[in-house]
This record gives sequence, structure tokens and C-alpha cells, in this order.
Amino acid sequence: MEAKTQQIHRGLRGVYADTTTASFIDGQVGKLLYRGYNIHDLAEKSTFEEIVYLLLYGHLPNRSQLDEVDAALRESRELPPEVLSILTLIKDCHPMDVLRTGVSALGSLDPDANDNSVEATRRKGIRITAQVPTLVTAHHRIRNGLDPVAPDPELNHAGNFLYMLFGQRPQEEEMKLMDVDFIIHAEHGSNASSFAARVAASTVSDLHSAVVGGIGVLKGPWHGGAAEAVMKMAQDIGRPENAESYARNLIENGKRIMGFGHRVYKAEDPRARHLRDRSEALSLKKGQPQWFQILAHLEQKVMRPYRDKGIYVNVDFYAGSIYYLMGIPDDLFVPIFAMGRIPGWTLQCMEQYADNILIRPLTEYTGPMDLEYVALEERA
Ligand code: CMC
Repeated sequence: MEAKTQQIHRGLRGVYADTTTASFIDGQVGKLLYRGYNIHDLAEKSTFEEIVYLLLYGHLPNRSQLDEVDAALRESRELPPEVLSILTLIKDCHPMDVLRTGVSALGSLDPDANDNSVEATRRKGIRITAQVPTLVTAHHRIRNGLDPVAPDPELNHAGNFLYMLFGQRPQEEEMKLMDVDFIIHAEHGSNASSFAARVAASTVSDLHSAVVGGIGVLKGPWHGGAAEAVMKMAQDIGRPENAESYARNLIENGKRIMGFGHRVYKAEDPRARHLRDRSEALSLKKGQPQWFQILAHLEQKVMRPYRDKGIYVNVDFYAGSIYYLMGIPDDLFVPIFAMGRIPGWTLQCMEQYADNILIRPLTEYTGPMDLEYVALEERA
């Protein structure tokens, strides 16, 4: 029997699976709104704590609402001792794998573990948001033979991440840089990891399971792994004048230039501008202007012709250079993306629970039909 040919939307390109009030993206003009607010206003004027509230509650917080969510984050940063033991057991694994295992363990121990109500999911989302930087930094210190640094209740979310990583209070400027980075990574529509989280929520599984799924999907180099790959590329290129032949060589061999292109944006990713200027300023401040020069040369000169095909820089292009210049090891770049994205994953799960339908698309079968089963002993 011949298979019936269906209209296939490979990669679900262009398919709307549901409605959302989380974020709006216009990829043709490079516009991004969280809950109706423009990302440029949020990146320049708000804080990550405000974004957590905005995403989880649907409106910007007033002072006391902000204080409340901030206090909940500050109270939730500590890790249960069982999770610290697990981190020690797997200390030599990649930080993204450790993060996936760590969040899974946190889920087993969470007081609201299998409660999918709005209130419990919000509480869990805030807890995971608060605990993930502690997890990543504790693992990093344990693998380097150092004791984890306890969170400092005086510091905000971004400040705590840097403090627990390096063991010393960060400068105001670096704290702000990290804060902006978390803001612009917080939510982004039906990207692969958020969609994975939604699929998990659609089976009425719990938030931790959905976040574990999101982490697994985010680690791929076509999604969150690009920032790490961009910095490796900049190091391979070495000097701006090598950028052209390096990129041409990759493209001629069918490879992609990391940090460029996007499934939805066919104009510049609006998040990129908030890291471009900051990458330039930081590379001058640190006396290492070459990294920004290499990246800027790639963007402005080498890849300029590709804009006609809708290939522009994306959020990850300048992110890696900033983390590198701050002294953050390159295998922590994807975990940083995950730290910012927890509120977005949580919100998408809350939306899914609120008006649930099982997400279950079809794939058209193109293999052979009705083959005759041959007994093992008779097979060639
Ligand atoms: N370098 C070179 N060529 C590219 C690139 C790139 N970075 N991105 C897309 N193209 C080409 C692609 O090969 C295709 O060429 P052709 O038509 O000749 O076959 C054409 O552009 C159209 O690409 P597409 O099929 O529309 O792209 P896609 O939607 O399947 O893929 C993407 C989107 C992000 C996977 C891809 O652009 C890519 O691999 N980029 C590099 C990885 C990267 O930077 N990822 C981070 C994305 S932003 C952060 C996040 O949200 O995860």
C-alpha cells in the first residue's frame, strides 16, 4: 500500500501550536516583547527580579510585590545537602549534565514536587530560579577542589551568581552586566527548549521534569550552546584579518557560523544590541580589545552579505565574549543561559497547565509496509 503524502512542516517551521501571553516576536523587524513590554525598555530599565515577577504574574510589580519576589528568591538559594552530595559524586561531568541531574534531584526533594497548581508551580519556578546559580557555582567550585560559597542575602540574583562563582563580591558594573544578560535570556516564545518544557507539561508532568527537559534541549550547539562555540571560534580566528578566510572555509564546507541566524528573526535579534556595546566596553576595560574586534569584523564585514538571506547576529554572538572577559569558564556559558531562562520555562508550563491539551503531532511513515516476519534462525 502506498503511503498517503501529507503536508509536512519539517521542524514545525511556521506552525502555531497554541496562543500565549508570554512574549511577542516579530522576526521580520526584530521586535521582542515580554508580557507586552519592549525588551529594550526592560534591558535598560528593569532588573531580573522584576522580570521574574512580570513573567510569573503577568504585570510589572509595585514596590511591595517586587520586595516579596526578591525575598522569596533570597530565601531559596541554599541547596539541600543531598544535592550537594550528588554534585560531588559527578563533579567531573560537563556542567550542563550536572545541572540537568541537579535540577532532577531538586525535583525529587521539592516540598511541592507533584503539585501542578498555579501557586505551587510559581513557588517551584521561583525556587528553581534561585537554586540554579547555586547549583552551577557549587559544582564549579567542587570540581576545582574548593568549598562552595554560601549565597549572600545582601546580594541580588546576578550578584550572587558572580559571588558564589568567584568567592568575592563582584563590582557593580559586572553585576549589572550579568543582570542584563539574565533579563534578555528570560523568555523567548516557542523556542526548542521552551517547547520541550511545554510538551512535558502537556502530559501533566511536574515543573522540575519540564525544566530538566528544557535543560537537555538547551545544551545543543544550535540552541544554547552557540555562545560557547562563538568564543572558541574567536580564539581559533585569533586576529580580525583571519576572520574572512575562516568563515569562508566553514561555509564552503557546509558548516554554520555560530552566533548567526535564527529560526524566527530574519532581521537583527533585538537582544544582541544589549550585549554588543557592553562587549566592546568590557574588552577595552580588560585590555583585550582583540575579541571584540574579531567579532565586530565578522559581523560588520564578513557576514554582512548574508543579511540579504536574513542571517544576522543572534543573542549568543556577543554573550560568549562577555562571559570570557569576566573570567567565566567556557563550559558555564550554556548554564548561564539556563539560569536566565527558568522563569520563561515556568511561565510556559503555567500556560500549558491552565488550558491543557496533550501535545502530540504526527510523523508521516515512509518505511516499508507489512513485511513478513522471519524467524531468527532463518535470517541471513
Ligand atoms: N551560518 C551560515 N549559514 C547559516 C547560518 C549560520 N549561522 N544559519 C542559517 N544558515 C543558512 C542555512 O544553512 C540555510 O542555507 P541554505 O538555504 O543554503 O540551505 C539558510 O541559512 C536558511 O537557514 P534556516 O534553515 O532558515 O535556519 P534554521 O531556522 O533551520 O536554523 C539556526 C536556525 C539558529 C539553527 C541556525 O541559524 C544556526 O544553526 N545558527 C548557528 C547556531 C546559533 O547561533 N544558534 C543560536 C540561536 S539564538 C539562541 C537561541 O535562541 O537558542
